[in-house]
Amino acid sequence: MRWTAHRGYHEIDHPDDADDAKFSRLPRRDYPPRNDEPPSQPTPRSAHFSSGGGVLEYPHLHSVAHISDLHIDSLPERSLAFKEICDAILASDIGTVIVTGDITNRGSVAEFEEFLSITSDLRRDRSVILLPGNHDRSRANISNRMMDGARVSLVIRDEIAVLRIDTTIWYNRIRFASHGNISSAMLNEVDRLLTQIPENTFVIVALHHHPLPLPAELLIEHISSWFSLPFAENLSYGSRLLEKIKGHCDLVLHGHRHVPSEIIFPYAQRPLTISNAGSSTSLRAFRRFDIENGRLAYEPTWISV
Ligand SMILES: [Fe+2]
Ligand SMILES: [Fe+2]
Repeated sequence: MRWTAHRGYHEIDHPDDADDAKFSRLPRRDYPPRNDEPPSQPTPRSAHFSSGGGVLEYPHLHSVAHISDLHIDSLPERSLAFKEICDAILASDIGTVIVTGDITNRGSVAEFEEFLSITSDLRRDRSVILLPGNHDRSRANISNRMMDGARVSLVIRDEIAVLRIDTTIWYNRIRFASHGNISSAMLNEVDRLLTQIPENTFVIVALHHHPLPLPAELLIEHISSWFSLPFAENLSYGSRLLEKIKGHCDLVLHGHRHVPSEIIFPYAQRPLTISNAGSSTSLRAFRRFDIENGRLAYEPTWISV
């Protein structure tokens, strides 16, 4: 099965009737990319591309870059790394960029304006799809500028549908209350929008918070877990969301946790991958997905800058 061959992927059983506690006990293999690895080219699954003048041509192929947790303006290095990521995307044939939140570090308008400035060329030439993270909700609530105030929205382009979910909430203004929320009403809206997606479309659900438990990374997350506080927990209703999208979705993209990870549900009808980008600016790397005819054409690859 194509989903199990890729390095670092971890396949788990069908999650029917599984609760969050069960997921938390599953073994998981996290794998931050090595920065000394050269930028990788996708390995073709079929000989349907041609090469001319050193440029690979992929007819009908649509490539998506997933980046996350930029935390613009927290450190000058982050802005520099993000510029290099944008340049790498502009030098590639990637057509769509999905940014799964924590774009800014303190949620200020100035930080978001810096993001807009860095991405001016990218937004002119490619589709850039944004959604907010908890840091974007911490001060000026610039999250409203990312999804026009909607909590759930659908973008369909070519053969790809991106269903965005804003999992931020008012208490994200409190520094350590960084956990996300999804309501029953939002789940109902997910249901409704899924029915509007044509068949043979590659469906991506994009959100900031992790729908399944992931290991704690920061001291505050460990402390939170020790005292049974909710700050480090996965998204409320995360399992319900996965049950709803099962059979209707190919890929879940998220961030929030800064160490990348992948989980695969190898459903016979429609495998589902949950992919965490980690912090693209600290990793100085992002993941690329190549989609053709409603399916992944190649194994996802890491691009380092
Ligand atoms: Fe973050
Ligand atoms: Fe976050």
